[in-house]
Amino acid sequence: MNMNDAQSNPCPDVDFPGHDKLVAALDAAVTSGDEHAVTKALRNTLCTMIRDRDVHLPACVHEPIEDHYARREIYRSPTHGYSVVAMTWAPGQGTPVHDHCGLWCVEGVWDGELEITQYELLERDGERFRFRAAGGMQAGPGSAGSLIPPHEYHTIRNASSDHVAVTLHIYKAPMEACSMFVPQDGEWFARLDKTLCTDDTE
Ligand SMILES: [Fe+2]
Repeated sequence: MNMNDAQSNPCPDVDFPGHDKLVAALDAAVTSGDEHAVTKALRNTLCTMIRDRDVHLPACVHEPIEDHYARREIYRSPTHGYSVVAMTWAPGQGTPVHDHCGLWCVEGVWDGELEITQYELLERDGERFRFRAAGGMQAGPGSAGSLIPPHEYHTIRNASSDHVAVTLHIYKAPMEACSMFVPQDGEWFARLDKTLCTDDTE
């Protein structure tokens, strides 16, 4: 299905080899219990699917976009409501500290390597938030992690100088906006609303 269909269709659904196998595995995982059970099952599923030779994400997800990391929604479940977004990170591209709009999310590294830093919220004063970096990790191909609110703050960055990285994100529901946090003074950040756009899947 092309992007025009995806834009006019409330449930984007891009075709690719292994689509049905991936969707069946995700459907099974999202119906496995509470959010802890679901995110654990999704992490295992993603790790398996990344290694599955039958599953090849659409070619577009390997194409970075020059001025921002690419977000391409390749599937939205009409039954369960979850959203699958492929992200493409050119060398040096990354995110500011951000939240996940209260939605759980499971993120798997399909290709390349990402630097992921978790942030713990220490206190809040109106629109000012105080965070402390709670540890960073290098996530390589075939690995997956999850965020469950209220532990939903992190940064992602492709620290490589020459390799594109691709990640697959499963959100509880389509995430169209979130908060981003701009460093102010020491551990204090200012919250800003951010609209999350999606890029073409052609
Ligand atoms: Fe995130």
